[in-house]
Amino acid sequence: MQDYQALLNEAKAVLQRNTITVTVDGKPYERVIPSRDYYVHQWLWDSAGIAMGLVHSNEEAAFNELVSLVAGQWSNGLIPHIIYNPDESRYYPPADQWQTTGFTRNGIKTSGITDPPLLAIAAEYIWNHASDEQKKRDFIRKVLPSLMAYHDHLKRYRDPEDCGLLTIVHPWESGTDDSPRWDSILSRIDLNMIPTNIKADVDRNRKDIRYHDSQERPTEDDYYRYIYLIELFKDLSWDYTKIIRESPFAVKDILFNSIWERANEALAGLLLTYGNQEEANKYQQRAEETRKALTNTWDEAYNQYCDIDVTQGNHRPIAVPTNAMFMPLYAGAVTDQQLDILLHRLSQADEFCTAYPVPSTAINYRYFDKDRYWRGPTWPITNFFIIEGLKRCRTRHKNVDQRAKLLAARTIQMIRDNGFWEYFDPIDDGTKANEKGMGFNSFSWTAAILIQLLNMTK
Ligand code: GLC
Repeated sequence: MQDYQALLNEAKAVLQRNTITVTVDGKPYERVIPSRDYYVHQWLWDSAGIAMGLVHSNEEAAFNELVSLVAGQWSNGLIPHIIYNPDESRYYPPADQWQTTGFTRNGIKTSGITDPPLLAIAAEYIWNHASDEQKKRDFIRKVLPSLMAYHDHLKRYRDPEDCGLLTIVHPWESGTDDSPRWDSILSRIDLNMIPTNIKADVDRNRKDIRYHDSQERPTEDDYYRYIYLIELFKDLSWDYTKIIRESPFAVKDILFNSIWERANEALAGLLLTYGNQEEANKYQQRAEETRKALTNTWDEAYNQYCDIDVTQGNHRPIAVPTNAMFMPLYAGAVTDQQLDILLHRLSQADEFCTAYPVPSTAINYRYFDKDRYWRGPTWPITNFFIIEGLKRCRTRHKNVDQRAKLLAARTIQMIRDNGFWEYFDPIDDGTKANEKGMGFNSFSWTAAILIQLLNMTK
């Protein structure tokens, strides 16, 4: 237990070290950046995860984190995936590349795409864990209108078919940037049609591989495509009615939508505590339609939930065995039969049950790569969703609760053995345990999730 106290203190120290002060709406705010080494701005789903960790040690900081995040909201409701910090140039693409200040307030610079919508979930988590009744009420009152506007924006622009599943238009919106789930769609974007000035810009200015081994990062070709998409959306003036129709990348992502389901439940729950039954019903209904739609993405032939490629009128399932297949657990969208199959796959040593589970891609898949970003390594954030997802099914299957506890314990162990890395090598290949950390060290998400897991298991 003393050991855990030391680990907890280290996690808090990581969050403290990554705290910076910015001025938003003329007011100074403290916010936590993912990493001092490279990710020096505020990312939506990192920030939400960080706030959930912070509430256990510094409630004020947790409130600040989300209040400063929603300050970057566009007037049409979009909450972008990056809120840029002024005076920082260590990240590529730079703030000015997006040309979005016409949509934001007070000259705040942001990206133009979004992230997995974890925000309402974080707000609800803070509501449930903060102890200062007055301050938490003030906090929720402050952020609720932004949460509703964000959810309404997503529903309006990202679900034009009204099918319950939102469409993402850039691999970065999935949070799992270079997952093999996106290979088939990205490969249709012909590199020859990408203008040479875009390629030259990437060649000249891309920064992640200066700090890092390029074997661990997305390939140059993928980067050309990422930036090409941004330039395309900018040419469409960030008009999402057009972007959804014209983007060469458009997907109903099962990870993004599982979070969307849970976020609508969280928002409905918060509205209920304020006695707003009518609005609460609206979001609850959205959660239900998403849950049903997720259940229906199950593919009998592949024994998994599948993302759906909806690019330019397509409707094709993407059957790639990644850890995203476990995400509908988090949304409560699994049937008993699907649950049995998922539990089986989760326990297979040649798929997902590795030394440090759960790898981002099944290890027997032909494009599994233990070093490269979302193509193999284990990430604490996705483990957190799987743990919570298993807990959600605990009454439906014996042993599920035990499985959740075991995965939580192994995730804690992974961080304890190696440190607060961004992601981890999932395989036992004889390398020393303390050499399994990858990406950037002193990573905020990892620290915040560890705090949540320790809190959950105490
Ligand atoms: C990378 C990850 C993304 C994360 C960001 C900041 O781009 O793929 O999920 O939000 O880093 O940590």
